[in-house]
Amino acid sequence: MTKRVLLTDKIAPDAARVLEAFDDIEVTSIGTPSTAELLDLIPEFEAIIVRSPTKITAPVIERAGRLKFIGRAGVGVDNIDVEAATRRGIVVMNSPRSNTVSTAEHTLAMMLAMAREIPRAHATVTEGKWKRETFRGVELAGKTLGVIGLGRVGKEVATRAAAFGMTVIAFDPMVTATDAWAVGAKLVPIVEIITTSDWITVHVPLDTGTRALIGAAEIAAMKTGVFLVNCARGGIIDEDALADALDAGRVAGVALDVFEQEPPRESRLFRHPRSVFSPHLGGHTVDAQRRVATDVAESIGMALSGGEIRDAVNPVKGK
Ligand code: MLT
Repeated sequence: MTKRVLLTDKIAPDAARVLEAFDDIEVTSIGTPSTAELLDLIPEFEAIIVRSPTKITAPVIERAGRLKFIGRAGVGVDNIDVEAATRRGIVVMNSPRSNTVSTAEHTLAMMLAMAREIPRAHATVTEGKWKRETFRGVELAGKTLGVIGLGRVGKEVATRAAAFGMTVIAFDPMVTATDAWAVGAKLVPIVEIITTSDWITVHVPLDTGTRALIGAAEIAAMKTGVFLVNCARGGIIDEDALADALDAGRVAGVALDVFEQEPPRESRLFRHPRSVFSPHLGGHTVDAQRRVATDVAESIGMALSGGEIRDAVNPVKGK
């Protein structure tokens, strides 16, 4: 019997090619559907693959009578109601390895751009101005970088920061000191990250334990002049607390690739000169998008064909 797979969010066409190479799989590719459109479409499909814009909510899952597998072309599954899927016996799979390097490279790019004020400097040159005195950057070398979350991305960031001559300290309750040393980082309690780092970058998923992990109290305990970076998920650093700290001059700069609401509303954060923003581009390279798409498509194709179930994030064996 033909199994139908819905691809949303304009997933790289390689995903459709991979799926169509399996027997009896038919693919429909669309952009990002509204909730109403998704509610309408979902009853027809055995599997769906999404990037982050499509929200797979409990009502969508309730309507998904034939759905067996949800694939996430990316890592974070915060756009999917995983509990609702688990209750219905639907397996949720992600692509945990494929965009690690892109996200780590983007983190370093944001740090360097902020350290040297490249966005503002670029803007002045293209406006015909030559303001060498305005832009006095800082070096990364010799500074302490605190990495909160030493998972796949955190480790790649640590290695690269160490190569730039930074002293890297890291907090992650799931990682051993030996694993941390292997990527050039010293494992420390989170309070040490907060109180001693010159730069802090977060690499944890967003959940109830990490929402506002960095709030007003944590920022107040940081060194004055700290630089903060979030290329993980909006909401891990509280945006209001961050804007207050930037206004007060306690935080020297902020680099955000992710926001509490995406796209973000007009924000006080945007007024600050030593800040760098990007529209959730961490994993968004040609290379990573091709890999996440083919990786998750292979997982879904194998699972629909009765093969191995890999990279499941919920404890379901499949229907
Ligand atoms: C991820 O979770 O894989 C990245 O944030 C990129 C994305 O959301 O697509």
